[in-house]
Amino acid sequence: MEIFIRRTANEIGDFAANMIEPFVKQGATLGLATGSTPSPTYQALIRKHREEGLSFADCDAFLLDEYYGIDQHHEQSYWSTIRRELTASIDIDDAAVHSLSSSAADPEQEAATYESMMKDAGGVDIQLLGIGANGHIAFNEPTSSLSSRTRLIDLRPRTIADNARFFDSEDEVPRQAMTQGIGTILEAKKILLIATGAAKAEAVQAMIEGPLSSFCPASSLQMHNDVCILLDEAAASGLGDVEFYKEIDAYWR
Ligand code: PGA
Repeated sequence: MEIFIRRTANEIGDFAANMIEPFVKQGATLGLATGSTPSPTYQALIRKHREEGLSFADCDAFLLDEYYGIDQHHEQSYWSTIRRELTASIDIDDAAVHSLSSSAADPEQEAATYESMMKDAGGVDIQLLGIGANGHIAFNEPTSSLSSRTRLIDLRPRTIADNARFFDSEDEVPRQAMTQGIGTILEAKKILLIATGAAKAEAVQAMIEGPLSSFCPASSLQMHNDVCILLDEAAASGLGDVEFYKEIDAYWR
């Protein structure tokens, strides 16, 4: 794991956008995340598109996950969110932005179709990830198999409570979601995980310095050989060896 610590979430956003830019120029398959964490990165990518002419026209994109049991056009569906946060503001073809169905009658079939679409696209070249306060990646909640594939999953109470801020009340948060599996995510060629804010500090520590465990799904990234972890100071505050990570980072700068 390569670990980069910057002062603020906006600095992390610029840093992540600079890492993603060469992939965009090659017309890569992008793995996109939703939630609050990637917003500064998406803002920086939109700026590059508007001010520097960065074109996404040759890219395609796959979302990590989607709530299950809400309308695709609900403002909090991830289908809507990624369009609002990023893809409506860049020149990617809307049909090239793929996501899991929020209402598939046969979730197992939907999962299999999604996996084969990803495969046909040549796999994800660069995957952007956030991390849940409980260590989840995408919606792979604690105890998810480390080799799990795309599937329907029940959300944990912690995740429902954390995501209630996007809805009028906690009761409105869907209880289930479709998610890429951990095994699916680990097939991305490069992974960029971003964590910002003190609420993520404990999960970040478990991911980087804890044991490989399905109890912290993000610890599965220890098994991948091209992972960059981008942290602000608050998210890095629980790390035991923080001075070492900063030294290595400074050495390569
Ligand atoms: P957040 O969610 O970016 O909204 O904090 C991250 C996640 O749950 O993966």
